[in-house]
Amino acid sequence: MAKILVVNGPNLNLLGKREPEIYGSKTLEELNQHLSNLAAELGLELEFYQSNIEGELINFIHDKGFDCGGMIINPGAYTHYSYAIRDAISSVGLKTVEVHLSNIHDREEFRTKSVIAPVCEGSIVGFGFYGYAMALSYFSDNLKKD
Ligand code: DQA
Repeated sequence: MAKILVVNGPNLNLLGKREPEIYGSKTLEELNQHLSNLAAELGLELEFYQSNIEGELINFIHDKGFDCGGMIINPGAYTHYSYAIRDAISSVGLKTVEVHLSNIHDREEFRTKSVIAPVCEGSIVGFGFYGYAMALSYFSDNLKKD
């Protein structure tokens, strides 16, 4: 079965508590449970990872990235400046979809730029939890399942 990594970066462990008017009132655990249910229907296997530390995210991508079908990543604020995470994604050659809960184009100027986007298949922004489900649906149609 094709495995998809679902990776969340800094401060996303606080979903539900963190600025709920921007990021919603559901927790990361609830998001992951929802995605697990969808993945079961789609015949995809998921592996979840969250870290607040750039190097840990990079190590995880190195460890798992060569052997997976794809990755859904919300790099949090690293989106806007982490060339190291961008390089990790291109180093492992993993099909990646970038997701942001909020519409990063409708917020502070510094959020409008993603240094991660150019190494991704595409980016989904502004749809809250639906963005992750959309990315999963994309992988469901664009991966060979065995
Ligand atoms: C975010 C947007 C980022 O600008 C912010 O730093 C986050 C969350 C989002 O999902 O909307 O931590 O990635």
